[in-house]
Amino acid sequence: MGVEIIKSKIRDVVDFPQKGIVFRDLTTVFKDADCLRELSDMLTAIYAEKGITKVVGIESRGFIMGPILATRIGAGFVPMRKPGKLPAETWQESYTKEYGVDVIEIHKDALCENDVVLLHDDLLATGGTMLAAYNLVKRFNPKKVYVNFLVELEFLKGRDLFPNDVEIESLIKY
Ligand code: PRP
Ligand code: ADE
Repeated sequence: MGVEIIKSKIRDVVDFPQKGIVFRDLTTVFKDADCLRELSDMLTAIYAEKGITKVVGIESRGFIMGPILATRIGAGFVPMRKPGKLPAETWQESYTKEYGVDVIEIHKDALCENDVVLLHDDLLATGGTMLAAYNLVKRFNPKKVYVNFLVELEFLKGRDLFPNDVEIESLIKY
């Protein structure tokens, strides 16, 4: 199965969650067993040999493929969550995304300097969410940080927010 078949199964929902947004809904991909397996295989092929020790998934849609990928590449999984959800001490960043403003948090003991981190989310739009996540992860001074999305809305140029040396991969592009 190729990327085009997976892309054809993404459901477009017009004017969600607000007018003017075309929401790229991946639930129609995840519910298909063959697509789910294929996504997992594609991500594993990219990241299996990079020495990644922690996959950091962004709430909530980064919690779907993130743990699946972590188990396949022998990494741990760390949740980065919306405010007030993590129970122990956290670092926080606020940010602007395609449809609003928000805050994300990570536990202060979630990562260490020896980690090689893969930051994962389902979709890159304006990049506000992932840039905040990237800045949070950099506070731990890890050995390396990779960034991954299932879907990239290229026309919004979210990847331009990141330093040039950050390796950003997305599987499906609009
Ligand atoms: C969506 C998506 C990304 C973010 C991308 O999450 O899963 O995290 O928006 O937008 P940006 O690139 O413009 O920042 P959302 O905040 O809707 O939360 P959810 O995953 O809990 O639905
Ligand atoms: N997150 C931000 N923009 C989005 C979009 N257009 N579709 C799905 N998730 C999103």
